[in-house]
Amino acid sequence: MNSRRRFLTLSALGSLTSLGSLKALAQPKPVKGPVILSTWNPGIRANARAYEVLQNGGSVLDCVEKGVNVIENDPNNRTVGIGGFPDVEGNVTLDACIMDQHQHCGSVAFLQHIKNPVSVARKVMENTKHVMLVGEGALNFALEQGFKKEMLLTEKTLAAWKKRKAELDTKLPEINVENHDTIGMVARDTDGNLSGSCTTSGAGMKLHGRVGDSPIIGAGLYVDNDVGAAAATGWGEAVIENAGSAMVVELMRHGRSPQEACEEIVNRIANKFEDWKSIQVGFIALNKAGQTGAFAIQKGFTYALHKNGENVGHPSDSLLKT
Ligand code: GLY
Repeated sequence: MNSRRRFLTLSALGSLTSLGSLKALAQPKPVKGPVILSTWNPGIRANARAYEVLQNGGSVLDCVEKGVNVIENDPNNRTVGIGGFPDVEGNVTLDACIMDQHQHCGSVAFLQHIKNPVSVARKVMENTKHVMLVGEGALNFALEQGFKKEMLLTEKTLAAWKKRKAELDTKLPEINVENHDTIGMVARDTDGNLSGSCTTSGAGMKLHGRVGDSPIIGAGLYVDNDVGAAAATGWGEAVIENAGSAMVVELMRHGRSPQEACEEIVNRIANKFEDWKSIQVGFIALNKAGQTGAFAIQKGFTYALHKNGENVGHPSDSLLKT
């Protein structure tokens, strides 16, 4: 090292006398521009729409709502919105929630006949003093707010449901197919503000009346604008039991990277949920600096990341490798 460089290095080190300065050095370099992260491969289309909304001057809340609307509106997606897989009695019942940068949130559960539950959840947040509406009350509220009643069970999904019902006693649910049931999206705008959304038709062949993690704030989704945001997919009961998304955010608050936080909570669930090898649970997480993470129990979980102007699908790392 030449003497001038050594002098500069030593002076830089000399000025790092406090722990605060060292901590500042360890901080990740913030990612510039918007970051949009969502679960599974359909997340790529959702991210593309979400980004477009931001580019057209929409808020980060608009972005996470309109982004996942794309998948809710797709009749060929069996796990969200119209075309979603029915419960054991043949009813399509939807769960969703949304949360913004001001800690405001809205949620609907066990909602039938409305294909965009996440938009109804937003109306609950914005137009009522409540957080959550369920069942018939949620449906009546949606109709009052101008949503259209629709048949959500498509012919294709009905045929798949009949086949599945016939083999129910003999075949276990197919991991990452029947258990991949949710689109969760977390996003950060150029100003660093965060929002998130989560929407699902829930676990295939669930009992009529069953509500999963996706509409439960803190389980399927959590946003804290000071820290970060996280969303979950997979077997909702295991996520609820461990307050999954809230815990991921809490770990980030205490210094974990989004990746470390997702891994720690997946490990915690695996330690506490007896039958963990037969379920899928996955998390995505985003922090204030725009760093992201994803981790799942089973191999096969994928996520979509829109960052630095690129929108790419990625395989997630997992606890079980085969
Ligand atoms: N993760 C969605 C559900 O369990 O319903």
